[in-house]
Amino acid sequence: MRIESSGQIEHLGAVRIHPVRRVLELDSGTRIPSQIKESVGPQRIERDVIAGIQQKLAIVLPIRDEDLKVFEGVLSGIPHDCLMIVISNSQRGEIDNLKKEQEILDRFCTATKRNAIIIHQKDTRLGEALADCGYSQVLDEKGLVGSGKAEGMIIGILLALILGKEYVGFIDTDNYIPGAVWEYAQHYAVGFGLSNSPYAMTRILWRYKPKISGELYFKKWGRVSEITNRYINHFISTKSKFETDVIKTANAGEHAMSLQLAKRLAYATGYGVETQELMSIFEQFSGLLPIVDKTVAEKGVDIIQTETVNPHIHEERGEEHLVQDMLVPSLSVIYHNPLCEDTTRQLIAKQLVELECITRGGEVPQLRMLPPPETADTRKFTSIMDRYLSDYSVPKGWPPVARLPSAASKAKGVTKLVFTDLDGTLLHPVSYSYAAALDSVRKLQGARIPIVFCSAKTMAEQQVYRRELDIKDPFIIENGAAIVVPKDYFRFPFSFSRVIDDYFVIELGVPYEEIRNRLGMLSEEHKAKVTFFGDLSTEEVSKVTGLNLLMARLAKQREYSETVIIEGDKKHLESTLAAIKEAGLSYTFGGKFYEVYLGGDKGKAVKIMTELFKLNFGDVYTTGIGDSLNDVEMLAAVDLPILVQKVDNRWNKLSVKNLRRVTGIGPEGWAKAASEILDNSNQKKKK
Ligand code: GDD
Ligand code: MG
Repeated sequence: MRIESSGQIEHLGAVRIHPVRRVLELDSGTRIPSQIKESVGPQRIERDVIAGIQQKLAIVLPIRDEDLKVFEGVLSGIPHDCLMIVISNSQRGEIDNLKKEQEILDRFCTATKRNAIIIHQKDTRLGEALADCGYSQVLDEKGLVGSGKAEGMIIGILLALILGKEYVGFIDTDNYIPGAVWEYAQHYAVGFGLSNSPYAMTRILWRYKPKISGELYFKKWGRVSEITNRYINHFISTKSKFETDVIKTANAGEHAMSLQLAKRLAYATGYGVETQELMSIFEQFSGLLPIVDKTVAEKGVDIIQTETVNPHIHEERGEEHLVQDMLVPSLSVIYHNPLCEDTTRQLIAKQLVELECITRGGEVPQLRMLPPPETADTRKFTSIMDRYLSDYSVPKGWPPVARLPSAASKAKGVTKLVFTDLDGTLLHPVSYSYAAALDSVRKLQGARIPIVFCSAKTMAEQQVYRRELDIKDPFIIENGAAIVVPKDYFRFPFSFSRVIDDYFVIELGVPYEEIRNRLGMLSEEHKAKVTFFGDLSTEEVSKVTGLNLLMARLAKQREYSETVIIEGDKKHLESTLAAIKEAGLSYTFGGKFYEVYLGGDKGKAVKIMTELFKLNFGDVYTTGIGDSLNDVEMLAAVDLPILVQKVDNRWNKLSVKNLRRVTGIGPEGWAKAASEILDNSNQKKKK
């Protein structure tokens, strides 16, 4: 995205209020160096920066009996990497709107391979959990969370916190324009990208809020916003002694915060919530009252305001709602703030009298306040919610949001991790037997060290060995083309490309058909005889590989790569390999055959897998065991790379830093490697 550079920033103690910035380009392209200097004029926030932030962003979607088609549209606008947390206060009973919302979300997430949370605000277990963790201010007399969007937002913030997110954004579910929803999520990320402080807030100003009364009229300001902005700016002006109209987003329903900031703010119940967030920031960090939180004061709080280009069209709820539910609460939180001076107070009271909201000399109603979420015992909340979270996760039956990362990672169990090649490494290069390594496999299992296969073999082939050896860990198939994770293995949400039986599959490579299409273009002129496994019968594969018939059949079930036999002299071989490269494909040599693939390699897959383990278990020490050239990337990506001997009692010449060579061919070497792994001495992290 490309966005206007900032105008003059208003400072109020540690608070920096950025004037509204306009979007110039919704998408400013990839990280390709431009000839025009970026440091001047508008700022560009690259796609990958936005994407990186969105992975840490939870979008809270409050819903109360909205049109379900509109809700569906909103879902489609939320970027894939954001975690959706739907907080419903819809009607239940005979007509169960929650159920319909759950079904829609479930269907959406199944189709788009995402995870989400949906919870009803009035859920009894939620109420009990909040009471137990000392946050009962949000509860009503029945012990359930009170009604209101603000209450829903707080639940969203607490859930985002325990789900390990860094940012939380809010998007109403009555928005008719999915493109606008998408744009809000972009703005949120852009705002955080522009801030250098961990305490940041992005608030959105709609460029237009069209009114449909006969003909479409693109109205810029709502009356509620206009009035609330006026008084909040008056408040700031009296404090800074310089008149300002910097705040244009006092009521911004569409806004986002870093959780570090969100957890520190005090919230108002009802629709005064967004104005109160600003007032809470001023109260705590403007220095007008003693600053309690020195760490925040040092870094400062950024309030970033951006203007969208999509129109904001949502459900209209009438004049009474606007004035009574929104304007009065918004002005009330300014009026009753301990920092508010008499001049601003008098003006607010006068305004409310003029609007006939209060009588002359009457009281300005005061809202109930909710204390900062950080005052809740989040540890306790985590451990209670951890038990129920699978009931609130969709898609049903997919458990990734079933355990909370903060709870799971505390329950450590894995500190070491082994990646191993199969052919020629765990399996003997000639006999394919793992017998010599069996005892060692059992020892590693006894020590709870996961054994992650990382091999050119197909999913079906690897399943055979996983079953025989009783290995339940994730595995990497077809030379890193895909990562296969048992559904209940990791206890946090992650993105994946497919679900196959009880596994989530993260694909890094392109499908087999695409590889074959490209290989089909190799011309005859290379003279080498080229044979594809896909064209051979099971018997033929068995013959050339020495695999038994069952394994040969499974070896043919390739999904992301093709095994190629190239016969001919050196020159022919070289020209064939060059032609493969020209076709845009990659290859590795596994000892006998060439494995042709595109996208994904063992190294990439190992790095992703390591990250998944770390997210779930905390820091892990990684080892890789291999025998040949196609293990180089894997070995380079681990803390301790180990090489076993080839069938001729030699080691392949590999250039990998700190490579440890163990004696023993294939599984015999593997057993030696396992002893080294079990031996804790001299295992130092690479980085
Ligand atoms: N969970 C939950 N609980 N959601 C609720 C509740 C509730 O009790 N009440 C309303 N919602 C949902 C609605 O379904 C909608 O998605 C969203 O909260 C906003 O409610 P609206 O009733 O549509 O609010 P609005 O359009 O008048 O006001 C919006 O814009 C204002 C100005 O920007 C809200 O976002 C306000 O908070 C905002 O100040
Ligand atoms: Mg609305």
